[in-house]
Amino acid sequence: MSASPACLPTSPSGRVTPATVPISLGERSYPIRIGQGLLADPQTYAGLPRAAAALIVTNATVAPLYEAGLRQALAPHYAKVHTVVLPDGEAYKDWPTLNRIFDALLEQGCDRKTVLFALGGGVVGDMTGFAAACYMRGVPFVQVPTTLLAQVDSSVGGKTAINHPLGKNMVGAFYQPRLVVCDLDSIATLPPRELSAGLAEIIKYGPIADMAFLDWIEANVEALRAGDAQALAHAVRRSCEIKAAVVGADEREGGLRAILNFGHTFGHAIESGLGYGAWLHGEGVGCGMVMAATLSQRLGLVDAAFVARLAAIIARAGLPVAAPPLDAADNAGRWLQLMRVDKKAEGGEIRFVLIDGPGRATVRAAPDALVREVIAACSARA
Ligand code: NAD
Ligand code: GLY
Repeated sequence: MSASPACLPTSPSGRVTPATVPISLGERSYPIRIGQGLLADPQTYAGLPRAAAALIVTNATVAPLYEAGLRQALAPHYAKVHTVVLPDGEAYKDWPTLNRIFDALLEQGCDRKTVLFALGGGVVGDMTGFAAACYMRGVPFVQVPTTLLAQVDSSVGGKTAINHPLGKNMVGAFYQPRLVVCDLDSIATLPPRELSAGLAEIIKYGPIADMAFLDWIEANVEALRAGDAQALAHAVRRSCEIKAAVVGADEREGGLRAILNFGHTFGHAIESGLGYGAWLHGEGVGCGMVMAATLSQRLGLVDAAFVARLAAIIARAGLPVAAPPLDAADNAGRWLQLMRVDKKAEGGEIRFVLIDGPGRATVRAAPDALVREVIAACSARA
């Protein structure tokens, strides 16, 4: 995949010039709009399916920051704009909280044309998308991602889900939004730890698809961590372009799309093994990428310098690179047990996304003994 120019141009107002990345999926195609000042602009939402009502789904942290702006932007388009505010946290990506969205829809008498708006990070986005897929067998929805992670990954591509105590994102559906609105201004209120978590999913696109993008990230990681609008604009746009190309080629993960899960097999084990919310999703992915790259090296697919370089970029992004202990008595055994629940596993055999040379990914199994060595080596990493 070819790289895009170093930065988006700036408009005369000093703002980043808005960009649109299309997702091409036939009749399920939609645009990803990227820019500043988009969230509270009524124009952003022109052209969506007509309906009597909209339901904003958000959480207790995001609502005070952005719900009023979105509500006033939607007012010209819908006679009624309702809001449901969910509790905040990965631990609430579950059935009882999902049910609160259905409660709100039914209590407000929402019909099958009602448009749902997911206002928040990946947790709100994944749950709102799943609710939209299920309510009256499917209503339209729009993603308004307010975290960096959601803007570069979770809001795009139509994977929706809730967690199960035995496994991450185990219950869900493929269901595409009608529009994704990435307002870069919302990143300004994001805590630094959450911003770093988003960088993990940005870094991921380099080793799997575009080493020139990894070079750019390496040179701009401090600007990204500082919230520089130009740098964020480029990172969000290039990430969405890569994701759009992969999803456009393999919407339902028949094969290629699995490469977007680089670092996730180890990362999901960390998330569920430590208890949802202890490590952020992006932190699990950051450490998981180091572990998956180390496994790639031990299989002879990349060299040690590649792994060291990737680990250094991940650490500079403010992410953990050392594997946490998941069980005092049988640590590697617990890791393997958790990873067997991964959606890529087939017949109990874990399948890893590995780097098959810089900028190229492959999905394959590895011997348990080698995986145990990798867990031990990455646990020891300072
Ligand atoms: P999140 O949704 O928990 O948001 C992180 C935190 O930031 C939350 O406390 C949230 O309330 C807060 N927040 C959101 N926007 C804010 C803002 N602008 N200012 C201040 N605080 C803000 O986490 P996330 O990292 O956005 O998403 C992680 C989730 O996404 C995981 O559940 C993961 O499984 C999922 N995910 C899904 C996909 C997919 O393809 N569907 C891809 C990657 C991740
Ligand atoms: N985040 C992985 C995917 O969308 O496939």
